[in-house]
Amino acid sequence: MLTATTQRVEDGQALRYRFMEMEDRYRKQALAMACALISLVDLRDAYTGGHSSRVASYARATALRLGLPDGQLDKVVMGALLHDIGKIGVPDHVLLKRGRLTDEEFAHIKKHPELGWMALKNIEDFKPISLIVLHHHERMDGVGYPGGLKGNAIPLGSRIIAVADSYDALTTDRPYRTARTKQQAIDELLRCVDVQFDSRVLAAFLDALD
Ligand SMILES: [Fe+2]
Repeated sequence: MLTATTQRVEDGQALRYRFMEMEDRYRKQALAMACALISLVDLRDAYTGGHSSRVASYARATALRLGLPDGQLDKVVMGALLHDIGKIGVPDHVLLKRGRLTDEEFAHIKKHPELGWMALKNIEDFKPISLIVLHHHERMDGVGYPGGLKGNAIPLGSRIIAVADSYDALTTDRPYRTARTKQQAIDELLRCVDVQFDSRVLAAFLDALD
């Protein structure tokens, strides 16, 4: 009797380990798939190469400071990796243009959050991530795009990516300007707090940056 009970406990533990192994494998595969997808965007626009992985790294550190549980943290990191995936659908003459964009060209660029959302929303496990991608250019004052969402109506993951994305854009060279210093970028983010960025998220980001 004791042997049979011990056997059942061992079987249960073996099953749990097997399940954890499968879950770990699934998470790694999903992450690898996200990296593969975003490398396609990086291939088209070498100038921003590495941008998505840096944004993912900043977003992860910020989400950890905010105390997000593991499941939510994974979604934020995945959303950060994939936030610009929709740029695959932006025409070359717009995406690769080094000068100032016309209104019509900028309208093309503004479609990328929706294009990314459309690509991801039909994958069952990626639904919450697709919403994070959709809203990563919203602003706290409600004049962002595409939804014009305001304040806490913007998914937290999108608010985190907005800060991480802007910081990385400011601190890297662009065709139209050289990179700002770390302090200049921080000053710029602080100037836009509550207007563009969530103050709680920005505080966590700056904390993580230290
Ligand atoms: Fe974007």
